[in-house]
This record gives sequence, structure tokens and C-alpha cells, in this order.
Amino acid sequence: MLHRLRDRLATGRLSPLARKVRGNNLTYLSPAKLLSLEAVLRRVRRNGADGDYLEFGVALGGSAIVIASNCPAGCTFHGYDVFATIPQPGPEDDARSHQRYVEISSGRSPGIGGDPYYGYLDNLYERVCRSFTAFGLPVDGVHVSLHKGLFEDTLDPADIRPVAFAHIDCDWYEPVRYCLDALRNRLTPGAIVVLDDYGDYGGCRKAVDLFLTKTGEFRVRRLSPHAVLERVRQPH
Ligand SMILES: C[S@@+](CC[C@H](N)C(=O)[O-])C[C@H]1O[C@@H](n2cnc3c(N)ncnc32)[C@H](O)[C@@H]1O
Repeated sequence: MLHRLRDRLATGRLSPLARKVRGNNLTYLSPAKLLSLEAVLRRVRRNGADGDYLEFGVALGGSAIVIASNCPAGCTFHGYDVFATIPQPGPEDDARSHQRYVEISSGRSPGIGGDPYYGYLDNLYERVCRSFTAFGLPVDGVHVSLHKGLFEDTLDPADIRPVAFAHIDCDWYEPVRYCLDALRNRLTPGAIVVLDDYGDYGGCRKAVDLFLTKTGEFRVRRLSPHAVLERVRQPH
């Protein structure tokens, strides 16, 4: 009930671009999450954080298009995804995550607004590239790059190019833990990380809470509708 009211209010405050992304059934983010994402992207610019913009968990490309369109000239948006059915959760994930995976892997998951579920499409990567182009953001490998495969295979651990913003939207414990650890030494002062599933899946929440305790380098700006962490100290 409260969620529905919050989403109705948020819808009217979204940018025209975010509204169009939702209208085209390209994102699972609620209006409240999209609105918060847009506010965070403005904050990254105000912080003067310098570096690339990343998303882990692109799916149909909706939130990625919003992020890439806010990525300043001279920086690159990198989107990472298997562009296929989501990998399965593991022992650190909660029952809800495992139930959701059973629904997906049994072929019973509905898509957005009556569309087929994206994880069942065999040309998802090409579709996402076409969506980016339709929004004036060609996947040119310069301003926009999309990396197909498991994060562990496509994110080079030796690459320490600075990151100003990251959206981690990959549901389960293990990929969230991996992304946070991989990002830790790349996030520049003022950089912000948004964790989409903090309030939705127990594995994500566990990975974030452990990371915060372990590092002590981030201020929690908010935990709802998603978690927003801002770097306040450099790693020692
Ligand atoms: C909830 S969806 C992303 C939703 C999207 N951001 C949006 O705007 O709707 C999560 C995505 O993360 C991807 N994913 C999860 N774990 C992954 C991993 N280890 N490597 C690569 N992709 C992964 C899934 O395949 C899926 O496409």
C-alpha cells in the first residue's frame, strides 16, 4: 500500500528519459528506485567524483540506459551481464531467492507488462544493443561498453581504472560480494555505489553488511528503496 503510494508519487517526478525507459518495459526498477537512482547520479556529479560508471546486472538495459545517459563525456559506461538466464543462487542466499530461481529456471517467470521474460530470449545482447542505440547511446566501446559473461570472467581484476559510480543489481549473495570486493580499490573519493536488492533479497543484504563492517570506508546514505553507499575513506 505504502509502496504503491510512493511509486505513484515518484512516477510524476521521473525524468522524461526514465519515464520512457519504463514505458518501453525495459526495467524492473520501481519508480521510487529509478527516482532515487537519478538523484544519486546528480550527487556523483556534485561530489566531483572522477571515473567510469558501471552496472552489474543489465538485463533488458533499462537502468543501464539511465546511468549511461548521465555518464559525463570522456568517461565510459560499462555494463556487465551474462545476457542469458541468471546464474543460480548459493548457500548464503535466502529461501525467497531460491524460490525465485526455481520459478525462472522452470520457464514460468512472466516478463514485464506481458512481454516474454528476458532471460529466455536467445538474442538478449543484440536486443539490448538496439535499445541503447534507440536511446541515442550506441554501444561503441568508447562511451558505452557491454560485457557479456559472468562478472568473474569479464571484470579484469588487474584493471584499476577509477570508478565514480556503480549500480549493483544482481540479486544474490555471491555476485554482490564479488562486485563489492572487485570495486573496493577502484572507487574514487565521492564515488557512490547503489545496491538494488538490499531490501529484497537476504543474500544481497548479508554481502553488503559484511562489506561495510570489513572496510569501514563507506557512509550509508540510505537503505531504502535501495542501499546507497558513499566512499568517505580510502582503503589502507
Ligand atoms: C535483476 S536483473 C537486472 C535488472 C536491470 N538492472 C533492470 O534495469 O531491470 C539481474 C541481472 O544480473 C545478471 N547476473 C546475476 N549474476 C550474474 C553474474 N554472476 N554474472 C553476470 N551476470 C549476472 C542476471 O543475468 C540478470 O540479467
